Amino acid sequence: MTSTNDIRRSFLDYFAAEGHAKVPSAPLVPQNDPTLMFVNAGMVPFKNVFTGLETRPYSTATSAQKCVRAGGKHNDLDNVGYTARHHTFFEMMGNFSFGDYFKERAISLAWKLVTGEWGISPDKLTVTVYHTDDEAFDLWKKIAGLPESRIIRIATKDNFWVMGENGPCGPCSEIFYDHGDHIPGGPPGSPDEDGDRFVEIWNLVFMQFVQEANEIIGNLPNPSIDTGMGLERVAAVMQGVHDNYDIDLFKALIAESGELTHTATTGVNQASHRVIADHLRCSGFLVADGVLPANEGRGYVLRRIMRRAMRHAHLLGAKDPLMHRLVPALVKEMGGAYPELVRAQSLIEATLLQEETRFRQTLDKGLKLLDEATVGMTAGDTLPGETAFKLYDTYGFPYDLTEDALRVQNLSVDRAGFDAAMAEQKRAARAAWKGSGDKASEELWFDLAEEKGGTEFIGYSAEEGEGEVIAIVKDGARVDSATAGDTVDIVTNQTPFYAESGGQIGDAGAMTNDKLRAFVEDTQKHVGRVWSHRTVIEAGEVKVGDSVRLDVDHERRGAIRSSHSATHLLHAALRDRLGTHVAQKGSLVAPDRLRFDFSQPTAIEPSSLADIEGDVNAYIRQNDTVETRLMTPDEAIQEGAMALFGEKYGDEVRVVSMGRRGGDNAPIYSLELCGGTHVGATGDIGLFKVVSEGAVSSGVRRIEALTGEAARRWFADRDEKLRETAAVLKASPDEVPARVAALVDERKRLERELAEAKKALALGGGHAEAAGPEQVGGAGFLAQVVEGLDPKGLRGAVDEMKARVGSGVAMLVAVNDGRASVAVGVTDDLAGKRNAVELVQRAVAALGGKGGGGRPDMAQGGGPDGAKADDAIAAVRATLEEAAVAA
Ligand code: ALA
Repeated sequence: MTSTNDIRRSFLDYFAAEGHAKVPSAPLVPQNDPTLMFVNAGMVPFKNVFTGLETRPYSTATSAQKCVRAGGKHNDLDNVGYTARHHTFFEMMGNFSFGDYFKERAISLAWKLVTGEWGISPDKLTVTVYHTDDEAFDLWKKIAGLPESRIIRIATKDNFWVMGENGPCGPCSEIFYDHGDHIPGGPPGSPDEDGDRFVEIWNLVFMQFVQEANEIIGNLPNPSIDTGMGLERVAAVMQGVHDNYDIDLFKALIAESGELTHTATTGVNQASHRVIADHLRCSGFLVADGVLPANEGRGYVLRRIMRRAMRHAHLLGAKDPLMHRLVPALVKEMGGAYPELVRAQSLIEATLLQEETRFRQTLDKGLKLLDEATVGMTAGDTLPGETAFKLYDTYGFPYDLTEDALRVQNLSVDRAGFDAAMAEQKRAARAAWKGSGDKASEELWFDLAEEKGGTEFIGYSAEEGEGEVIAIVKDGARVDSATAGDTVDIVTNQTPFYAESGGQIGDAGAMTNDKLRAFVEDTQKHVGRVWSHRTVIEAGEVKVGDSVRLDVDHERRGAIRSSHSATHLLHAALRDRLGTHVAQKGSLVAPDRLRFDFSQPTAIEPSSLADIEGDVNAYIRQNDTVETRLMTPDEAIQEGAMALFGEKYGDEVRVVSMGRRGGDNAPIYSLELCGGTHVGATGDIGLFKVVSEGAVSSGVRRIEALTGEAARRWFADRDEKLRETAAVLKASPDEVPARVAALVDERKRLERELAEAKKALALGGGHAEAAGPEQVGGAGFLAQVVEGLDPKGLRGAVDEMKARVGSGVAMLVAVNDGRASVAVGVTDDLAGKRNAVELVQRAVAALGGKGGGGRPDMAQGGGPDGAKADDAIAAVRATLEEAAVAA
């Protein structure tokens, strides 16, 4: 038997040998088309190559592309499990020519592979062509030698392939395999063509036109080829089975699901096992490509698929969560061809376990409600829409899960009633919001969110993508378009731009298309779910409804990611070193720069700060992978995640973990609730440097730090300054501290010497008074006016003068810049007889000042009027004379 993996390989090898470039599957989330929910055909990643917008280094290619048809235009979800060939996830193998070969070589390559390489009997094959395509008809006759009866002309859109409303398209030709007359059904184009006997295995599209809004608007630059072969279908043919679910790959997954639930895989259980196997593949691949369960957008499609499978696991009697236990089997079957599955295995397991644990909390109650609601109903009856809505709203039952649950009893759901109940809930939410007192300016955004739904953020896994413009806001009002020179807020249905929140600043970057060049300077979020890009239109114009390319400034985002992850490591290090009282009080995450405010009563010792910085850098070097999981806030907190007190969290939170204490499988170092963007592994941060630490308010400290290139530049700047200093000192950088300390000491010594010299000079060169003491009022009196003497040296000088007087009063007035300082000393033998304080106050008054004070033997003061220095001496002399009279 040829395994599914062998068939995939042989298809790709065959086309590679025919000169085609082997191109790996693109991620399931479209990188280049905002109107598509998921990649749903092999040609989607090449769309812009067909239209000539993009060129690649090859003109022919082959791929096995992951596809999802659930949600959006192609939705096969409802049928999965109950038919032989419906899947939410499948692989499309194809060969492509971008203006290289056209119909003839496409047909001959296909025929050679199917009938030659793979040996499928031509007798089993029938082909179709578009009714007007005589060329293809003749080529099939010539190349394959098929009789005209087995080249069927089809006039319907079945043989005109279009990707969607927009994009390349053209007539096509399909190859059908006849599974034999034991299966009911007729050839394509016949009245019973919908039977299962003739199965389309390959579609060859002759791409010629471009369509916009369902209208052909022109030709492709060059006729091209796009083909699509469903791997599962062709595996069924080559493995001699009729049903896709009987191929080796599905058999292995279904066997595992039977094993783990201890149930038979056939009979009444068959549909459940098929749903589980299909949805396991779809969920696994979506998670591997960055989609996580959510209540909107792609994440909600994933949640619907997961929960649908989880109800079937419950139906099979699984007592505990099942889906995550099937992941190893999935990885075993498909990890060889898709290494992303291997890389994401633990994330897929954790996500499935998390979702199933959570859903099980309401599943039983919901099913009970459903049972009660359907008592007495018979086949063909309809469940009221409000009941379906209650199941959705209260028990987390997606609409299609309820539909699926009723399917066996042949009951349906009143969709209109469900929609009405949903609309009523929105109306009530609006009324509540209006009453909540939110700013009127937010009303525009609230209306927008209601009307268009929120923006889907695709920027956790991508930094570029396309978005459809759903609104343009200029000066607080919605407008239809904007042109060069305008600065407007542009809202798109999806975006890779991160909107400012949780301290992380909004992304900047470019918004472009063939008519527009614009710069996005900031991104903000409104009413929790509408992203607006503050955009400066540089050239051209933009209109509501346009598709735009969105490119986040990678370098800037990279630097922001480093800062954000470093903030988490810093938070962990602070708690580790200072204690668990440390809690985040605020943060700013900017490119290469972060600011972190936290509760901490005292300043951090420099040595402790150095340890904290060392810890962060040690975890950077550990280079641990940064992991993100989704949890309920309670679960996250139970796991020990740090949450911000007082912060409002939704039903679900992202939990970001990084760093291992002591190697693999050791406890996690940092675990935080966080909606921000992070590095892939801590090593990407590069370097971390604290540049300041200080108080912001009582009990709150702030650390500012740099990461990556900014930190490196900081060190380089410091180094440069150190080297400059060393050069001035004519020393090596290592010698700088000792040399500077020596210089400072020397400077102090010189200052001291200079002061001494000045004093000596001043005292020696006095004026106005004789150098020797005189007798005034019966005691010695020595007084002098000096200039340029530092007032600090005044008392020392007066002490010296006291010694010279022997018994009496010494007085010194120092004049500096017109101001006077004065000191008066009284020798000890005159204690009680002459008072220095009293004397100095007289001098101060004469100098135009007030006060003056000290002890009775030494007092000091000053006044503004240095020109009155001699008057001050006269005033003291007079006082001494008065004292003699009084005595
Ligand atoms: N793009 C074509 C299809 O999906 C091949 O069928």
